[in-house]
Order: sequence, then C-alpha cells, then structure tokens
Amino acid sequence: METTSLMNTYGEKAMTLVSGEGAWLYDEKGNKYLDALSGIAVCGLGHSHPAVASAISMQAGNLLHCSNLFGIPSQQQLAEKLCHISGMSNVFFSNSGAEANEAAIKIARLYGHKQGIKLPTVLVMDNAFHGRTLATLTASGNRRVQAGFEPLVRGFARGHFNDIEGLRTIAENNPDICAILVEPIQGEGGVRVADVDYLKKLRDFCDQQGWLLMLDEVQTGNGRTGKFFYYQHSGVQPDVVTTAKGLGNGIPISACLAYGEASELMQPGNHGSTFGGNPLACSAALAVVDTLEKENLYHRATAIGNIIMQGLAEELKDDEHVKDIRGSGCMIGIELTKPCKSLYTEALKHGLIINITADSVVRLLPPMIMTDQEAQQVVSILAPLIRDFQ
Ligand SMILES: Cc1ncc(COP(=O)(O)O)c(C=O)c1O
Repeated sequence: METTSLMNTYGEKAMTLVSGEGAWLYDEKGNKYLDALSGIAVCGLGHSHPAVASAISMQAGNLLHCSNLFGIPSQQQLAEKLCHISGMSNVFFSNSGAEANEAAIKIARLYGHKQGIKLPTVLVMDNAFHGRTLATLTASGNRRVQAGFEPLVRGFARGHFNDIEGLRTIAENNPDICAILVEPIQGEGGVRVADVDYLKKLRDFCDQQGWLLMLDEVQTGNGRTGKFFYYQHSGVQPDVVTTAKGLGNGIPISACLAYGEASELMQPGNHGSTFGGNPLACSAALAVVDTLEKENLYHRATAIGNIIMQGLAEELKDDEHVKDIRGSGCMIGIELTKPCKSLYTEALKHGLIINITADSVVRLLPPMIMTDQEAQQVVSILAPLIRDFQ
C-alpha cells in the first residue's frame, strides 16, 4: 500500500505494518517480525501494552484536550512524578524531541542574556543529533542533516564528544558560551558511549565556567539504559534534561526538565505549545512511568541488554568485521568495519527488525518487555547474518 501523496522525506519503505503485540509486529500480509527497534526507542513497553491502552481509552472518553490556558490534573501529576524521579525542579511539556531541545536552547539563551552575554552560545558535539527544526539541526553534528537548509542558526559552537581536555581551549576562545548540550550516549551518531566519568567531568567543567549542563536524553531516557535517565548512573545533577520518545510509548509527548536557577528563567509568555502536555498525552505517559516501576522494567532493560550484548560478543568473537559491541541496557550498537545498510533488509527477511545508523553500526533498541527467550532469539537471528555479511 504505497502512496505518492506523502512528501518523500523517508524514502522507500520495506513493508506496511498493521498491528503489534508485545515485542512483535505484523505486516499487512500477516508476516510477523520480532521488534528490536521499538519504533526507534519509542515503544519501550512494547506494542498494545494494556496499561497504556486503557489509560488512553479512559482519557479519550473523559477529556482529550483543553489547552494550557487551564489546569490539567494528569499534566500536574506527571510533572510531579518526573521531578520526583529525576531530582529536577520543574518541567515544560511539548510533543517531540526537537521541541524539548528547542525549549532547552531557549533556556540557555535566557541564562546567557541574564549574564550580559549578547550572543549566548550553546556548545554542542560532533556527531550529535538533536532534531530537525532549524535550531536543532544546527545543533546536530551531521552535515547530511544540515545540507540544503542554510542559513543555519547562530549561537552554537562545536566540540568533540568525550573530550574534556579540548573544552578548555574552546572555552578560552569563546567567552559567549553559556551552556553545553550533549547526549550522554550518542544514538543516531552510532551508539557512542562516553567514558564512565565523562558526565562528572562535564559537570565540574560547567561549574568552573558557570555554564549550564544540558543533557539530551530523548533517546536514552525513560528506562532504556536501566535507570529512568542515563545520567542517574553517574550521580550528576544536570541543569536541564530533555526527553521524548519512550515517554508516551507512541503517544507524542516530550519534556524539558530544569533544575535550580535554570528552572526559574522561563516566565509567562516566553514559551508555549498548543498540544504540549495535553490530557491524553500525559495520561499515556503516567501509565508508562507507573508501568516502568510496577513491572521493574529498569531491571529488565539491563537484563535484556546483557543477554543480547554477551550473546553477540560470544557468537561474533572471531569475526574480524566486528569492530565493537557496546551500549547500555536496551540501547546497543554493533560497529562493523564497513557500511552495512543491507543487513537491515536481510534481518527483515529473517523476521527481525533492526536499524543501521552512522553507516556501519547495527543499532538495537529492543522493548524492555522482551522476554529472555526473545532476547536470545535476537542473537540467534542476527549473529549469523553479521557473520555471513561480506
Ligand atoms: C538524542 C535525540 N535528540 C533529539 C531527537 C529528535 O527527536 P524528534 O524526532 O522526536 O524530534 C532524537 C531523535 O532521534 C534523538 O535521538
């Protein structure tokens, strides 16, 4: 079922999906696929999760939308819950990862202006991905995302991911920098995991410089790495955190959370969103957050990640085409020595949904509700495909 009435932004599609349950997706011909992608890190609770389905249907029968001109109980509850879980002070809700990052960038600019900086500048990293709006594509460190959309937005400087030493020179040469925006694990950039103490060192550096530490947890957030946010593995307290993807398990919702001084900068009239944090989206997200706790999915994310990473490491230990297997919980990258786009189609033929990013990295983002057996199935389908890939 292909149509030319859609703008051609995504290219050709391998198939049309019509339903899903748990870790399984079904196409229009009735073929089934084990989902190791979760709609790109969105459906962490799998497909058709009863808690999310019932929260959505109950809210749909009660109140779908009323605008942010009025109080919304589920929005207030969700904000309190997210602040409690994260240690952050307050939240702004929007609808996508890019929008949450826009809010973060606006907070950084308010912060910079308050300090008398005329051109407040946000330091972003090479290989970063922060979204497709003009500001967030400028912040992204990938020319393919930016090409054709010039002029880019002013107020960004770039550093090397995972390089603390290089920051000193950048800071000396650019007194307008007032914040860092960084993904704790670069997802689109190839599942690049920084050194264990990177976030701690970034926190110290930001404190020395008086910069905000802003973490883009759009992909790493919502339990995927075994904690609600990845930064919670390191014990740092960021000034701003953004998240989206897994928060609504498929219902569009994103959040920009701020702490301390950063949480006091936005004032009435500074920012807004018609749909952001509407009753439906917040009810879905509340069900997601409750289920993460009730079903102990943080623990499951770690367990599934271990099964897949250890299984692949064992199966592929003698494969010279495999450069690295890395990740955290249900966010896994297998870096090969050469581009491997065709592995995506090969995996589909074998009933497995994966993703290829940064040309040569097989990315797995399985749902956290996967069983051990399904996780082993991912390994037993994928390992021979990688081994036979020439
Ligand atoms: C780290 C990160 N930030 C931002 C985004 C953009 O999110 P969205 O597509 O919801 O705007 C993504 C999407 O892949 C992402 O991985």
